[in-house]
Amino acid sequence: METAATGTVSAQHIESFRKIAGDANVSMDEETLRHYAHDETENLAFPPEVVIKPRTAEEISEILKICNEYKIPVTPRGAGTGLSGGALPHLGGVLLSTERMNSIREIDERNLQVTTEPGVITEVLQDAVKEKGLFYPPDPASRGSCFIGGNISENSGGPKAVKYGVVKDYVLNLEVVLPTGEMIWTGANVLKNSTGYNLTQLVVGSEGTLGIVTKIVLRLIPHPKYDLLMLVPFKSLEQAGEAVSAIFREGFTPSAMELVEINALKIVSRMVESSAVPVTDDTEAHLIIEVDGNDIDVLMKEMEAISSLLAGYDIGEIYFADDAQQKAELWKLRRKVAEAVKLEGYTIEEDTVVPRAALPGLIKAVKELGKKHDFDVVCYGHAGDGNLHIRIKKEGIPNSHGNPVMTAALRELFELVKKMGGTISGEHGIGLIQKPYMDIVFKDTQLRLMRDIKKSFDPNNILNAGKIFPAE
Ligand code: LAC
Ligand code: ZN
Repeated sequence: METAATGTVSAQHIESFRKIAGDANVSMDEETLRHYAHDETENLAFPPEVVIKPRTAEEISEILKICNEYKIPVTPRGAGTGLSGGALPHLGGVLLSTERMNSIREIDERNLQVTTEPGVITEVLQDAVKEKGLFYPPDPASRGSCFIGGNISENSGGPKAVKYGVVKDYVLNLEVVLPTGEMIWTGANVLKNSTGYNLTQLVVGSEGTLGIVTKIVLRLIPHPKYDLLMLVPFKSLEQAGEAVSAIFREGFTPSAMELVEINALKIVSRMVESSAVPVTDDTEAHLIIEVDGNDIDVLMKEMEAISSLLAGYDIGEIYFADDAQQKAELWKLRRKVAEAVKLEGYTIEEDTVVPRAALPGLIKAVKELGKKHDFDVVCYGHAGDGNLHIRIKKEGIPNSHGNPVMTAALRELFELVKKMGGTISGEHGIGLIQKPYMDIVFKDTQLRLMRDIKKSFDPNNILNAGKIFPAE
């Protein structure tokens, strides 16, 4: 593969960028560079040389043409909520933020579709379509601050994925500016499409390495009328994992099935100063279970049946969130776990995913690894999808990136995950920090195919270079 572009930004380039995007949208002051140096990944920071905030696809095209000609590295960025370092400008160069591209272009109620720009906050988009009775389900924990464009780049998930699928299941068509400056639409605004290679799905989850997404067409579904939510305390973490697959085996499809280990719940309750959720000392973990639909009686029966099934496990008293406020409180706690545990020193986050029934085995193995390598570990995540977030705290090692002790321990974890039939990222992507482990899950052949695709989109390797692929 081409080595990453290493051109630097000259005064002349800056002048051209200012002409294209406007003076106010090209910044080189230290405070701005410091702000765009990091995302939510560990404690990593790499300042770019310049931050550009274009408004249109045409402006992006002009900027990329210059960068391509002079081989200047470009890092695209949404809201900077990523957890794998995809938006970190580790090669310097241009940081291209989509934050000004923030209009929802059209909600097409007849076809149940929405066309949006990438810098729209996911929750804003969800609320806008909900006003029309429509539903865009993918809901990453950061949905109140992340951008839909970033969600496309990472193929994000979130709690609702267990019933409704992830971002890729909703993307119909994308307008993309290629690293050469060419502009394309990847597909068509249709629900079925067997026309050639699926460029749309190739761009989804490509972590800003193939092009910059400038318009997004999503399919929507009718919004379910009701949901019910409960919190189930388990005396044993592993039993909580076992209960998850039992619920699905019995034929239930909850709209959320989340696991939160007790440490995480205690930390987050403290951070948001909430005592809304009862936390007892003999509890190791909780399952948060939600069902949704249009018939409240059916949902009540479903919750009762799930509760009866869970009575066969060693559980404490089930807490039912009765009204909108209690539900919001419980979801707030769940959504803030990542932020809370990071503040508590659990800076390293993993995003492992295994077949659902392998989850109890993974939980057990993670705990054993923690003991063996002497790190503190806390687990939470989307248990219904077998997607376990593992947060690690180890004295003296605030980042995994480049640390040999942590890298060795993580390799051991990922090799185990692979053996269980899983993989190393379910929804956070590979970005900068997971790339040393790609060889665990892919042979040279798959990596060669991916590299060839990258080269075909980005012959000069300017766009988000040095991400995803392990070092040559
Ligand atoms: C969560 C994010 C970190 O599930 O994916 O909280
Ligand atoms: Zn998650």
